Amino acid sequence: MDKSELLKLAFDAQKRSYAPYSDFQVGAALLCKDGTVYQGCNIENASLGATNCAERTAIFKAVYDGKREFQAIAVVGKKNSETEFELCAPCGICRQVMAEFCDPGTFEIILGKNTEDYRVFTLEEILPLSFTGKDLAD
Ligand code: THU
Repeated sequence: MDKSELLKLAFDAQKRSYAPYSDFQVGAALLCKDGTVYQGCNIENASLGATNCAERTAIFKAVYDGKREFQAIAVVGKKNSETEFELCAPCGICRQVMAEFCDPGTFEIILGKNTEDYRVFTLEEILPLSFTGKDLAD
Protein backbone atom coordinates (compact mmCIF):
# COMPACT_ATOMS: atom_id res chain seq x y z
CA MET A 1 0.00 0.00 0.00
CA ASP A 2 1.70 3.23 -1.09
CA LYS A 3 0.93 6.73 0.19
CA SER A 4 -1.26 7.68 -2.78
CA GLU A 5 -3.43 4.58 -2.29
CA LEU A 6 -3.79 5.33 1.42
CA LEU A 7 -4.75 8.92 0.63
CA LYS A 8 -7.37 7.68 -1.86
CA LEU A 9 -8.95 5.66 0.99
CA ALA A 10 -8.90 8.76 3.21
CA PHE A 11 -10.71 10.74 0.49
CA ASP A 12 -13.30 7.96 0.25
CA ALA A 13 -13.77 8.07 4.04
CA GLN A 14 -14.14 11.86 4.00
CA LYS A 15 -17.39 11.41 2.05
CA ARG A 16 -18.91 9.66 5.09
CA SER A 17 -18.24 12.59 7.43
CA TYR A 18 -21.09 13.68 9.66
CA ALA A 19 -20.32 17.36 10.24
CA PRO A 20 -23.56 19.39 10.31
CA TYR A 21 -22.16 21.94 12.82
CA SER A 22 -18.76 22.84 11.43
CA ASP A 23 -19.35 21.74 7.82
CA PHE A 24 -15.67 20.67 7.98
CA GLN A 25 -15.45 17.15 6.63
CA VAL A 26 -12.47 14.95 7.46
CA GLY A 27 -11.44 11.47 6.37
CA ALA A 28 -8.66 9.22 7.59
CA ALA A 29 -7.15 5.91 6.53
CA LEU A 30 -5.02 4.05 9.07
CA LEU A 31 -2.52 1.49 7.79
CA CYS A 32 -1.83 -1.34 10.23
CA LYS A 33 1.53 -3.13 10.24
CA ASP A 34 -0.28 -6.28 9.04
CA GLY A 35 -1.33 -4.41 5.88
CA THR A 36 -4.99 -3.90 6.77
CA VAL A 37 -6.52 -0.43 6.55
CA TYR A 38 -9.15 1.17 8.79
CA GLN A 39 -11.04 4.21 7.55
CA GLY A 40 -12.65 6.88 9.69
CA CYS A 41 -14.54 10.14 9.40
CA ASN A 42 -15.38 12.88 11.87
CA ILE A 43 -18.69 12.38 13.65
CA GLU A 44 -20.02 15.56 15.23
CA ASN A 45 -22.49 16.03 18.04
CA ALA A 46 -24.82 18.85 19.06
CA SER A 47 -22.86 19.10 22.31
CA LEU A 48 -19.75 19.76 20.15
CA GLY A 49 -17.55 18.25 22.89
CA ALA A 50 -18.78 14.75 22.06
CA THR A 51 -17.48 15.08 18.51
CA ASN A 52 -15.09 12.37 17.38
CA CYS A 53 -12.37 13.19 14.86
CA ALA A 54 -11.72 11.09 11.75
CA GLU A 55 -8.34 9.89 13.02
CA ARG A 56 -9.77 8.64 16.31
CA THR A 57 -12.68 6.95 14.56
CA ALA A 58 -10.18 4.97 12.47
CA ILE A 59 -7.89 4.17 15.41
CA PHE A 60 -10.74 3.11 17.70
CA LYS A 61 -12.24 0.87 15.02
CA ALA A 62 -8.86 -0.81 14.58
CA VAL A 63 -8.21 -1.25 18.30
CA TYR A 64 -11.66 -2.75 18.76
CA ASP A 65 -10.75 -5.26 16.06
CA GLY A 66 -7.62 -6.22 18.00
CA LYS A 67 -5.10 -4.17 15.99
CA ARG A 68 -2.52 -2.20 17.94
CA GLU A 69 0.44 -1.92 15.58
CA PHE A 70 0.20 0.93 13.14
CA GLN A 71 2.45 2.15 10.35
CA ALA A 72 0.83 5.30 8.98
CA ILE A 73 -2.32 7.39 8.77
CA ALA A 74 -3.51 9.53 5.86
CA VAL A 75 -5.71 12.51 6.73
CA VAL A 76 -7.67 14.83 4.42
CA GLY A 77 -10.23 17.48 5.20
CA LYS A 78 -11.96 20.60 4.00
CA LYS A 79 -15.09 22.66 4.43
CA ASN A 80 -17.91 21.26 2.33
CA SER A 81 -18.27 24.67 0.68
CA GLU A 82 -14.62 24.73 -0.47
CA THR A 83 -13.50 23.05 -3.67
CA GLU A 84 -9.78 22.60 -2.95
CA PHE A 85 -8.31 20.58 -0.07
CA GLU A 86 -5.67 22.22 2.12
CA LEU A 87 -3.48 20.23 4.52
CA CYS A 88 -5.53 19.14 7.54
CA ALA A 89 -3.36 18.58 10.61
CA PRO A 90 -4.53 16.26 13.41
CA CYS A 91 -5.81 17.97 16.55
CA GLY A 92 -4.01 17.62 19.88
CA ILE A 93 -6.33 14.93 21.21
CA CYS A 94 -5.77 12.78 18.11
CA ARG A 95 -1.99 13.22 18.41
CA GLN A 96 -2.22 12.03 22.02
CA VAL A 97 -4.28 8.98 20.98
CA MET A 98 -1.68 8.19 18.30
CA ALA A 99 1.01 8.38 20.99
CA GLU A 100 -0.78 5.63 22.92
CA PHE A 101 -0.27 3.09 20.15
CA CYS A 102 2.25 4.36 17.61
CA ASP A 103 6.03 4.49 17.57
CA PRO A 104 6.90 8.23 17.58
CA GLY A 105 9.98 7.87 15.40
CA THR A 106 8.47 5.77 12.61
CA PHE A 107 4.69 6.28 12.54
CA GLU A 108 3.90 8.49 9.55
CA ILE A 109 1.15 11.11 9.31
CA ILE A 110 0.37 11.79 5.67
CA LEU A 111 -1.51 15.04 5.05
CA GLY A 112 -2.87 15.36 1.54
CA LYS A 113 -4.26 18.04 -0.74
CA ASN A 114 -4.80 15.29 -3.30
CA THR A 115 -3.36 11.82 -3.88
CA GLU A 116 -0.15 13.24 -5.41
CA ASP A 117 0.35 16.44 -3.38
CA TYR A 118 0.99 15.59 0.24
CA ARG A 119 3.40 16.05 3.17
CA VAL A 120 4.63 13.39 5.55
CA PHE A 121 5.52 13.89 9.23
CA THR A 122 6.53 11.47 11.94
CA LEU A 123 4.52 11.44 15.15
CA GLU A 124 7.62 12.73 16.94
CA GLU A 125 7.67 15.77 14.68
CA ILE A 126 4.07 16.74 15.37
CA LEU A 127 4.02 15.71 19.06
CA PRO A 128 7.43 16.32 20.63
CA LEU A 129 7.98 15.65 24.32
CA SER A 130 4.87 13.48 24.56
CA PHE A 131 3.34 12.10 27.74
CA THR A 132 2.86 8.33 27.45
CA GLY A 133 2.36 5.18 29.49
CA LYS A 134 6.13 5.10 30.07
CA ASP A 135 5.74 8.14 32.30
CA LEU A 136 3.39 6.18 34.54
CA ALA A 137 5.55 3.07 34.82
CA ASP A 138 7.10 2.19 38.20
N1 THU B 1 -11.41 17.27 12.79
C1 THU B 1 -11.01 16.01 12.50
O1 THU B 1 -11.83 15.09 12.32
N2 THU B 1 -9.68 15.77 12.40
C2 THU B 1 -8.73 16.74 12.43
O2 THU B 1 -7.57 16.43 12.23
C3 THU B 1 -9.09 18.13 12.70
C4 THU B 1 -10.52 18.36 13.05
C5 THU B 1 -12.86 17.55 12.83
C6 THU B 1 -13.46 17.74 14.18
C7 THU B 1 -14.69 18.57 13.85
O3 THU B 1 -15.74 17.71 13.46
C8 THU B 1 -14.28 19.37 12.63
O4 THU B 1 -13.13 18.72 12.11
C9 THU B 1 -13.97 20.81 12.92
O5 THU B 1 -13.08 20.92 13.97
